[in-house]
Amino acid sequence: MEKELRLGVIGACGRGSLSDWAHKPENGVQVVAGADPYQLQRDGFVKRHQEKFNHTPNVYADYREMLEKEHLDGVFITCPDFMHEEVACYCLEHKTPVYLEKPIAISVEGADRILRTAKENRTRLMLGHNMRYMNFTRKMREIIQSGMIGEVKAIWCRHFVSYGGDAYFRDWHADTKNSCSLLLQKGAHDIDIIHWLAGAVTTRVNGIGSLSVYDKVPRRPLGDEHLYKDKLDITSFWSNDHWPAENLKDFYPTVDNEDLNMVNLQLANGVQACYLQCHFTPDGWRNYTVIGTKGRIENFGDDGAGTKIQVWTRRQDGFHPEGDVVYNMPPPGEGHGGADPVIIQNYVDMLRGNEVPTSTPQGARYAVAAGVLGAKSIRNGGMPFDIPALPEEIENYDFSLNQ
Ligand SMILES: NC(=O)c1ccc[n+]([C@@H]2O[C@H](COP(=O)([O-])OP(=O)(O)OC[C@H]3O[C@@H](n4cnc5c(N)ncnc54)[C@H](O)[C@@H]3O)[C@@H](O)[C@H]2O)c1
Repeated sequence: MEKELRLGVIGACGRGSLSDWAHKPENGVQVVAGADPYQLQRDGFVKRHQEKFNHTPNVYADYREMLEKEHLDGVFITCPDFMHEEVACYCLEHKTPVYLEKPIAISVEGADRILRTAKENRTRLMLGHNMRYMNFTRKMREIIQSGMIGEVKAIWCRHFVSYGGDAYFRDWHADTKNSCSLLLQKGAHDIDIIHWLAGAVTTRVNGIGSLSVYDKVPRRPLGDEHLYKDKLDITSFWSNDHWPAENLKDFYPTVDNEDLNMVNLQLANGVQACYLQCHFTPDGWRNYTVIGTKGRIENFGDDGAGTKIQVWTRRQDGFHPEGDVVYNMPPPGEGHGGADPVIIQNYVDMLRGNEVPTSTPQGARYAVAAGVLGAKSIRNGGMPFDIPALPEEIENYDFSLNQ
Protein backbone atom coordinates (compact mmCIF):
# COMPACT_ATOMS: atom_id res chain seq x y z
CA MET A 1 0.00 0.00 0.00
CA GLU A 2 1.43 3.39 -1.07
CA LYS A 3 1.68 6.18 1.52
CA GLU A 4 -1.35 8.51 1.58
CA LEU A 5 -0.21 12.06 0.71
CA ARG A 6 -1.73 15.32 1.94
CA LEU A 7 -0.51 18.19 -0.20
CA GLY A 8 -0.91 21.98 -0.16
CA VAL A 9 -0.42 24.78 -2.66
CA ILE A 10 1.07 28.24 -2.00
CA GLY A 11 -0.18 30.65 -4.67
CA ALA A 12 -3.54 28.96 -5.24
CA CYS A 13 -4.59 30.38 -8.62
CA GLY A 14 -2.66 31.21 -11.80
CA ARG A 15 0.02 28.54 -12.02
CA GLY A 16 -1.40 27.10 -8.77
CA SER A 17 -3.85 25.12 -10.91
CA LEU A 18 -0.88 22.87 -11.71
CA SER A 19 -1.54 21.20 -8.33
CA ASP A 20 -4.87 19.91 -9.69
CA TRP A 21 -2.96 17.20 -11.58
CA ALA A 22 -1.88 15.78 -8.21
CA HIS A 23 -5.37 15.53 -6.67
CA LYS A 24 -6.22 11.84 -7.13
CA PRO A 25 -7.91 10.52 -3.98
CA GLU A 26 -8.28 7.13 -5.71
CA ASN A 27 -4.45 6.96 -5.74
CA GLY A 28 -4.12 8.21 -2.17
CA VAL A 29 -3.13 11.79 -3.06
CA GLN A 30 -5.18 14.83 -2.02
CA VAL A 31 -4.56 18.55 -2.30
CA VAL A 32 -6.13 19.37 1.05
CA ALA A 33 -5.29 23.08 1.39
CA GLY A 34 -4.19 26.24 -0.35
CA ALA A 35 -2.64 29.51 0.79
CA ASP A 36 -2.98 32.82 -0.99
CA PRO A 37 -2.91 36.39 0.35
CA TYR A 38 -5.86 37.38 -1.85
CA GLN A 39 -9.48 36.52 -0.95
CA LEU A 40 -10.56 36.34 -4.59
CA GLN A 41 -7.86 33.76 -5.32
CA ARG A 42 -8.71 31.72 -2.22
CA ASP A 43 -12.36 31.67 -3.29
CA GLY A 44 -11.36 30.78 -6.84
CA PHE A 45 -9.27 27.86 -5.60
CA VAL A 46 -12.16 26.46 -3.54
CA LYS A 47 -14.58 26.90 -6.45
CA ARG A 48 -12.17 25.15 -8.80
CA HIS A 49 -11.87 22.15 -6.48
CA GLN A 50 -15.60 21.97 -5.93
CA GLU A 51 -16.36 22.06 -9.65
CA LYS A 52 -13.58 19.70 -10.76
CA PHE A 53 -13.41 17.30 -7.83
CA ASN A 54 -16.54 17.84 -5.71
CA HIS A 55 -14.07 18.56 -2.90
CA THR A 56 -13.64 21.54 -0.55
CA PRO A 57 -10.03 22.30 0.44
CA ASN A 58 -9.06 24.42 3.45
CA VAL A 59 -7.75 27.90 2.68
CA TYR A 60 -5.34 30.26 4.42
CA ALA A 61 -4.19 33.81 3.83
CA ASP A 62 -0.81 32.97 5.39
CA TYR A 63 1.12 29.95 4.14
CA ARG A 64 2.88 29.66 7.53
CA GLU A 65 -0.45 29.04 9.24
CA MET A 66 -1.28 26.41 6.60
CA LEU A 67 1.97 24.59 7.32
CA GLU A 68 1.40 24.70 11.06
CA LYS A 69 -2.18 23.39 10.93
CA GLU A 70 -2.21 20.94 8.03
CA HIS A 71 0.86 18.69 8.62
CA LEU A 72 1.42 18.38 4.89
CA ASP A 73 3.50 15.73 3.10
CA GLY A 74 4.44 18.25 0.43
CA VAL A 75 3.68 21.66 -1.06
CA PHE A 76 3.56 23.24 -4.49
CA ILE A 77 5.07 26.73 -4.49
CA THR A 78 3.46 28.58 -7.40
CA CYS A 79 3.51 32.18 -6.15
CA PRO A 80 5.42 34.93 -8.04
CA ASP A 81 9.18 34.65 -8.50
CA PHE A 82 10.16 37.26 -5.91
CA MET A 83 8.54 35.14 -3.16
CA HIS A 84 10.25 31.84 -4.08
CA GLU A 85 13.32 32.18 -1.86
CA GLU A 86 11.45 33.21 1.27
CA VAL A 87 8.62 30.68 0.89
CA ALA A 88 10.81 27.74 -0.19
CA CYS A 89 13.30 28.26 2.64
CA TYR A 90 10.50 28.54 5.21
CA CYS A 91 8.88 25.29 4.01
CA LEU A 92 12.21 23.44 3.89
CA GLU A 93 13.15 24.70 7.37
CA HIS A 94 9.82 23.29 8.56
CA LYS A 95 10.66 19.94 6.93
CA THR A 96 7.94 20.14 4.30
CA PRO A 97 9.02 18.73 0.90
CA VAL A 98 8.82 21.31 -1.86
CA TYR A 99 7.83 21.44 -5.53
CA LEU A 100 9.04 24.91 -6.55
CA GLU A 101 8.12 26.58 -9.82
CA LYS A 102 10.85 28.00 -12.03
CA PRO A 103 12.80 30.24 -11.78
CA ILE A 104 14.19 28.77 -8.56
CA ALA A 105 14.91 32.35 -7.35
CA ILE A 106 15.69 35.76 -8.78
CA SER A 107 19.34 35.83 -7.65
CA VAL A 108 22.21 33.34 -7.56
CA GLU A 109 22.51 33.87 -3.81
CA GLY A 110 18.78 33.16 -3.37
CA ALA A 111 19.02 29.96 -5.42
CA ASP A 112 22.07 28.79 -3.47
CA ARG A 113 20.33 29.51 -0.17
CA ILE A 114 17.39 27.29 -1.20
CA LEU A 115 19.72 24.41 -2.13
CA ARG A 116 21.66 24.76 1.14
CA THR A 117 18.46 24.92 3.18
CA ALA A 118 17.08 21.75 1.56
CA LYS A 119 20.33 19.88 2.26
CA GLU A 120 20.74 21.14 5.82
CA ASN A 121 17.15 20.19 6.65
CA ARG A 122 17.31 16.88 4.74
CA THR A 123 14.06 17.75 3.02
CA ARG A 124 13.13 16.85 -0.55
CA LEU A 125 13.16 19.55 -3.22
CA MET A 126 12.05 19.37 -6.84
CA LEU A 127 11.90 22.16 -9.46
CA GLY A 128 9.11 22.81 -11.95
CA HIS A 129 11.19 22.64 -15.13
CA ASN A 130 8.39 21.03 -17.13
CA MET A 131 10.20 21.52 -20.46
CA ARG A 132 12.34 18.51 -19.52
CA TYR A 133 9.08 16.52 -19.71
CA MET A 134 8.01 17.67 -23.17
CA ASN A 135 7.99 15.16 -26.02
CA PHE A 136 10.13 17.24 -28.37
CA THR A 137 12.92 18.00 -25.86
CA ARG A 138 13.04 14.36 -24.77
CA LYS A 139 13.21 13.22 -28.39
CA MET A 140 15.99 15.71 -29.19
CA ARG A 141 17.97 14.46 -26.22
CA GLU A 142 17.39 10.83 -27.24
CA ILE A 143 18.64 11.58 -30.79
CA ILE A 144 21.74 13.32 -29.42
CA GLN A 145 22.45 10.46 -27.01
CA SER A 146 22.07 7.90 -29.82
CA GLY A 147 25.16 9.44 -31.44
CA MET A 148 23.32 10.21 -34.70
CA ILE A 149 24.72 13.76 -34.92
CA GLY A 150 28.11 12.94 -33.42
CA GLU A 151 29.64 15.10 -30.71
CA VAL A 152 27.58 18.21 -29.92
CA LYS A 153 29.45 21.45 -30.54
CA ALA A 154 26.79 24.19 -30.81
CA ILE A 155 23.20 24.81 -29.65
CA TRP A 156 21.17 27.81 -30.81
CA CYS A 157 17.72 28.55 -29.44
CA ARG A 158 15.42 31.22 -30.88
CA HIS A 159 12.47 31.95 -28.62
CA PHE A 160 9.52 33.81 -30.16
CA VAL A 161 7.14 35.04 -27.43
CA SER A 162 4.07 36.35 -29.23
CA TYR A 163 2.17 36.82 -25.95
CA GLY A 164 5.10 38.54 -24.17
CA GLY A 165 3.42 41.94 -23.89
CA ASP A 166 0.26 40.52 -22.32
CA ALA A 167 2.01 38.01 -20.09
CA TYR A 168 5.10 39.85 -18.85
CA PHE A 169 4.58 43.59 -19.18
CA ARG A 170 1.14 44.05 -17.65
CA ASP A 171 1.88 42.71 -14.16
CA TRP A 172 4.72 42.22 -11.66
CA HIS A 173 7.00 40.53 -14.23
CA ALA A 174 7.70 43.91 -15.94
CA ASP A 175 9.65 45.28 -12.98
CA THR A 176 13.20 43.93 -12.63
CA LYS A 177 12.82 44.21 -8.83
CA ASN A 178 10.30 41.33 -9.04
CA SER A 179 11.82 39.15 -11.74
CA CYS A 180 15.43 40.32 -12.31
CA SER A 181 15.17 39.60 -16.05
CA LEU A 182 12.96 37.74 -18.52
CA LEU A 183 16.15 35.83 -19.30
CA LEU A 184 15.47 33.88 -16.12
CA GLN A 185 11.73 34.38 -15.68
CA LYS A 186 11.09 32.89 -19.12
CA GLY A 187 14.53 31.87 -20.36
CA ALA A 188 15.39 29.65 -17.36
CA HIS A 189 13.38 26.93 -19.13
CA ASP A 190 15.44 27.15 -22.32
CA ILE A 191 18.82 27.68 -20.72
CA ASP A 192 18.12 24.55 -18.65
CA ILE A 193 17.20 22.65 -21.83
CA ILE A 194 20.39 23.87 -23.56
CA HIS A 195 22.40 22.56 -20.58
CA TRP A 196 20.44 19.29 -20.57
CA LEU A 197 20.93 18.69 -24.30
CA ALA A 198 24.62 19.61 -24.14
CA GLY A 199 25.35 17.63 -20.97
CA ALA A 200 27.09 20.59 -19.30
CA VAL A 201 26.31 23.94 -17.70
CA THR A 202 27.32 27.49 -18.58
CA THR A 203 30.60 28.75 -17.15
CA ARG A 204 30.70 32.17 -18.86
CA VAL A 205 28.05 34.39 -20.39
CA ASN A 206 27.72 37.68 -22.22
CA GLY A 207 24.97 39.36 -24.18
CA ILE A 208 23.17 42.33 -25.57
CA GLY A 209 19.52 43.28 -25.22
CA SER A 210 17.17 46.19 -24.90
CA LEU A 211 13.73 47.47 -24.04
CA SER A 212 13.09 48.21 -27.65
CA VAL A 213 9.30 48.33 -28.21
CA TYR A 214 7.50 48.09 -24.90
CA ASP A 215 9.07 51.26 -23.47
CA LYS A 216 6.63 53.17 -25.73
CA VAL A 217 3.43 51.36 -24.63
CA PRO A 218 1.22 53.40 -22.25
CA ARG A 219 1.40 52.32 -18.59
CA ARG A 220 -1.02 52.46 -15.69
CA PRO A 221 -0.17 55.11 -13.08
CA LEU A 222 2.00 54.34 -10.07
CA GLY A 223 -0.22 52.90 -7.34
CA ASP A 224 -2.22 50.87 -9.89
CA GLU A 225 0.01 47.78 -9.74
CA HIS A 226 -2.67 45.13 -9.33
CA LEU A 227 -4.42 45.01 -12.68
CA TYR A 228 -5.45 41.45 -11.89
CA LYS A 229 -6.90 41.98 -8.44
CA ASP A 230 -10.43 41.37 -9.71
CA LYS A 231 -9.50 38.54 -12.10
CA LEU A 232 -8.66 34.93 -11.33
CA ASP A 233 -6.96 34.14 -14.55
CA ILE A 234 -4.54 36.62 -16.07
CA THR A 235 -4.64 34.76 -19.38
CA SER A 236 -8.09 36.31 -19.86
CA PHE A 237 -6.08 39.44 -20.77
CA TRP A 238 -4.16 37.63 -23.51
CA SER A 239 -5.45 38.15 -27.01
CA ASN A 240 -4.04 37.73 -30.50
CA ASP A 241 -5.96 40.92 -31.32
CA HIS A 242 -3.33 42.82 -29.29
CA TRP A 243 -1.31 43.38 -32.42
CA PRO A 244 0.94 44.89 -33.58
CA ALA A 245 2.77 44.94 -30.28
CA GLU A 246 2.94 48.73 -30.08
CA ASN A 247 -0.90 48.79 -29.96
CA LEU A 248 -0.84 47.27 -26.48
CA LYS A 249 -1.89 49.42 -23.52
CA ASP A 250 -2.35 49.33 -19.74
CA PHE A 251 1.16 48.15 -18.94
CA TYR A 252 2.44 47.82 -15.37
CA PRO A 253 3.46 51.20 -13.86
CA THR A 254 7.16 50.23 -13.81
CA VAL A 255 8.54 48.66 -16.98
CA ASP A 256 12.31 48.20 -16.99
CA ASN A 257 12.73 44.62 -18.19
CA GLU A 258 14.21 44.05 -21.65
CA ASP A 259 11.82 42.84 -24.37
CA LEU A 260 14.76 41.63 -26.46
CA ASN A 261 17.51 39.42 -24.94
CA MET A 262 20.41 37.72 -26.72
CA VAL A 263 23.08 35.83 -24.79
CA ASN A 264 26.12 33.73 -25.69
CA LEU A 265 26.86 30.83 -23.40
CA GLN A 266 30.20 29.06 -23.00
CA LEU A 267 29.56 25.62 -21.50
CA ALA A 268 31.93 23.62 -19.31
CA ASN A 269 32.44 20.85 -21.92
CA GLY A 270 33.34 23.23 -24.75
CA VAL A 271 29.84 23.42 -26.29
CA GLN A 272 28.94 26.96 -27.31
CA ALA A 273 25.33 28.11 -27.27
CA CYS A 274 23.15 31.11 -27.74
CA TYR A 275 19.67 31.93 -26.51
CA LEU A 276 17.70 34.63 -28.32
CA GLN A 277 14.40 35.82 -26.86
CA CYS A 278 11.95 38.34 -28.32
CA HIS A 279 8.63 39.39 -26.74
CA PHE A 280 6.95 41.05 -29.72
CA THR A 281 6.89 38.37 -32.42
CA PRO A 282 3.72 37.46 -34.35
CA ASP A 283 4.15 33.73 -33.65
CA GLY A 284 4.88 32.01 -30.32
CA TRP A 285 7.22 29.01 -30.09
CA ARG A 286 10.84 27.94 -29.59
CA ASN A 287 13.20 26.72 -32.24
CA TYR A 288 16.34 24.82 -31.23
CA THR A 289 19.09 23.60 -33.46
CA VAL A 290 21.84 21.36 -32.19
CA ILE A 291 24.92 20.95 -34.36
CA GLY A 292 27.23 17.99 -33.87
CA THR A 293 30.26 16.68 -35.70
CA LYS A 294 28.08 14.32 -37.81
CA GLY A 295 24.82 16.19 -38.26
CA ARG A 296 22.27 18.74 -37.14
CA ILE A 297 18.81 18.51 -35.58
CA GLU A 298 16.09 21.13 -35.44
CA ASN A 299 12.53 21.23 -34.06
CA PHE A 300 9.60 22.80 -35.89
CA GLY A 301 6.82 23.50 -33.38
CA ASP A 302 7.31 22.88 -29.67
CA ASP A 303 4.72 20.29 -28.68
CA GLY A 304 1.74 21.94 -30.29
CA ALA A 305 -0.06 20.02 -33.05
CA GLY A 306 2.22 19.11 -35.97
CA THR A 307 5.50 19.37 -34.07
CA LYS A 308 8.36 17.56 -35.78
CA ILE A 309 12.09 17.14 -35.43
CA GLN A 310 14.28 16.94 -38.49
CA VAL A 311 17.79 15.56 -38.70
CA TRP A 312 20.34 16.29 -41.40
CA THR A 313 23.10 13.69 -41.53
CA ARG A 314 24.59 14.06 -45.06
CA ARG A 315 26.51 16.91 -46.58
CA GLN A 316 24.57 18.54 -49.42
CA ASP A 317 24.71 22.00 -50.90
CA GLY A 318 21.79 24.36 -50.47
CA PHE A 319 18.54 24.11 -48.54
CA HIS A 320 16.93 20.70 -47.91
CA PRO A 321 13.71 21.38 -46.06
CA GLU A 322 12.83 17.79 -45.15
CA GLY A 323 16.23 16.74 -43.78
CA ASP A 324 17.35 13.10 -43.85
CA VAL A 325 15.18 11.84 -41.01
CA VAL A 326 11.89 13.27 -39.68
CA TYR A 327 10.34 12.46 -36.32
CA ASN A 328 6.69 13.49 -35.98
CA MET A 329 5.71 14.15 -32.37
CA PRO A 330 2.48 12.65 -30.94
CA PRO A 331 -0.56 14.96 -30.68
CA PRO A 332 -0.19 17.29 -27.69
CA GLY A 333 -1.77 16.40 -24.36
CA GLU A 334 -3.23 18.90 -21.87
CA GLY A 335 -0.98 21.15 -19.73
CA HIS A 336 2.01 22.39 -21.74
CA GLY A 337 1.71 19.70 -24.39
CA GLY A 338 1.18 16.98 -21.77
CA ALA A 339 4.29 17.82 -19.72
CA ASP A 340 2.45 19.08 -16.61
CA PRO A 341 0.69 15.83 -15.60
CA VAL A 342 3.95 13.92 -16.11
CA ILE A 343 6.10 16.26 -13.99
CA ILE A 344 3.46 16.22 -11.23
CA GLN A 345 3.41 12.41 -11.20
CA ASN A 346 7.21 12.57 -10.97
CA TYR A 347 6.87 14.74 -7.81
CA VAL A 348 4.33 12.36 -6.25
CA ASP A 349 6.62 9.41 -7.03
CA MET A 350 9.58 11.28 -5.53
CA LEU A 351 7.60 11.97 -2.34
CA ARG A 352 6.92 8.24 -2.07
CA GLY A 353 10.60 7.49 -2.60
CA ASN A 354 9.96 5.71 -5.90
CA GLU A 355 11.51 8.05 -8.43
CA VAL A 356 14.43 10.44 -9.02
CA PRO A 357 13.08 13.51 -10.88
CA THR A 358 14.30 14.39 -14.36
CA SER A 359 14.25 18.07 -13.34
CA THR A 360 17.01 18.87 -10.83
CA PRO A 361 17.54 21.72 -8.33
CA GLN A 362 21.17 22.04 -9.49
CA GLY A 363 19.99 22.41 -13.10
CA ALA A 364 17.48 25.07 -12.05
CA ARG A 365 20.20 26.99 -10.21
CA TYR A 366 22.64 26.96 -13.15
CA ALA A 367 19.86 28.12 -15.51
CA VAL A 368 19.08 31.05 -13.19
CA ALA A 369 22.78 31.83 -12.73
CA ALA A 370 23.25 32.10 -16.52
CA GLY A 371 20.11 34.29 -16.72
CA VAL A 372 21.12 36.59 -13.85
CA LEU A 373 24.67 37.07 -15.13
CA GLY A 374 23.47 37.31 -18.73
CA ALA A 375 21.22 40.18 -17.68
CA LYS A 376 24.13 41.76 -15.81
CA SER A 377 26.21 41.56 -18.98
CA ILE A 378 23.40 43.12 -21.05
CA ARG A 379 23.17 45.95 -18.51
CA ASN A 380 26.97 46.44 -18.49
CA GLY A 381 27.82 46.90 -22.14
CA GLY A 382 28.09 43.21 -23.00
CA MET A 383 30.89 42.49 -20.53
CA PRO A 384 31.33 38.70 -19.98
CA PHE A 385 30.74 37.22 -16.52
CA ASP A 386 31.83 33.89 -15.02
CA ILE A 387 29.19 31.66 -13.44
CA PRO A 388 30.20 30.58 -9.93
CA ALA A 389 30.26 26.78 -9.56
CA LEU A 390 28.28 25.12 -6.78
CA PRO A 391 30.24 23.68 -3.86
CA GLU A 392 30.95 19.98 -4.51
CA GLU A 393 28.74 18.75 -1.66
CA ILE A 394 25.72 20.55 -3.19
CA GLU A 395 26.66 19.68 -6.77
CA ASN A 396 26.61 15.97 -5.95
CA TYR A 397 23.70 15.97 -3.49
CA ASP A 398 20.55 14.00 -4.33
CA PHE A 399 17.65 16.30 -3.41
CA SER A 400 15.10 13.55 -4.09
CA LEU A 401 16.19 11.43 -1.13
CA ASN A 402 15.08 11.73 2.46
CA GLN A 403 18.69 11.77 3.61
N1 LIG B 1 6.55 25.96 -15.51
C1 LIG B 1 5.67 26.66 -16.21
O1 LIG B 1 5.32 26.30 -17.32
C2 LIG B 1 5.07 27.89 -15.59
C3 LIG B 1 3.98 28.50 -16.21
C4 LIG B 1 3.42 29.65 -15.61
C5 LIG B 1 4.00 30.15 -14.45
N2 LIG B 1 5.07 29.54 -13.89
C6 LIG B 1 5.66 30.07 -12.65
O2 LIG B 1 4.65 30.06 -11.64
C7 LIG B 1 4.82 31.17 -10.78
C8 LIG B 1 3.51 31.95 -10.68
O3 LIG B 1 3.23 32.52 -11.93
P1 LIG B 1 1.76 33.09 -12.25
O4 LIG B 1 1.82 33.65 -13.59
O5 LIG B 1 0.75 32.07 -11.91
O6 LIG B 1 1.70 34.30 -11.20
P2 LIG B 1 0.44 35.03 -10.55
O7 LIG B 1 0.78 36.45 -10.40
O8 LIG B 1 -0.81 34.66 -11.30
O9 LIG B 1 0.39 34.40 -9.08
C9 LIG B 1 0.10 33.03 -8.83
C10 LIG B 1 -0.68 32.94 -7.53
O10 LIG B 1 0.16 33.38 -6.44
C11 LIG B 1 -0.62 34.27 -5.61
N3 LIG B 1 0.27 35.16 -4.85
C12 LIG B 1 0.62 36.43 -5.17
N4 LIG B 1 1.42 36.92 -4.21
C13 LIG B 1 1.59 35.91 -3.30
C14 LIG B 1 2.30 35.79 -2.07
N5 LIG B 1 3.00 36.80 -1.60
N6 LIG B 1 2.22 34.61 -1.39
C15 LIG B 1 1.49 33.57 -1.87
N7 LIG B 1 0.79 33.63 -3.03
C16 LIG B 1 0.84 34.80 -3.73
C17 LIG B 1 -1.56 34.96 -6.57
O11 LIG B 1 -2.67 35.51 -5.90
C18 LIG B 1 -1.95 33.81 -7.51
O12 LIG B 1 -3.01 33.05 -6.98
C19 LIG B 1 5.97 32.01 -11.34
O13 LIG B 1 7.12 31.75 -10.60
C20 LIG B 1 6.11 31.52 -12.76
O14 LIG B 1 7.43 31.59 -13.24
C21 LIG B 1 5.60 28.42 -14.44
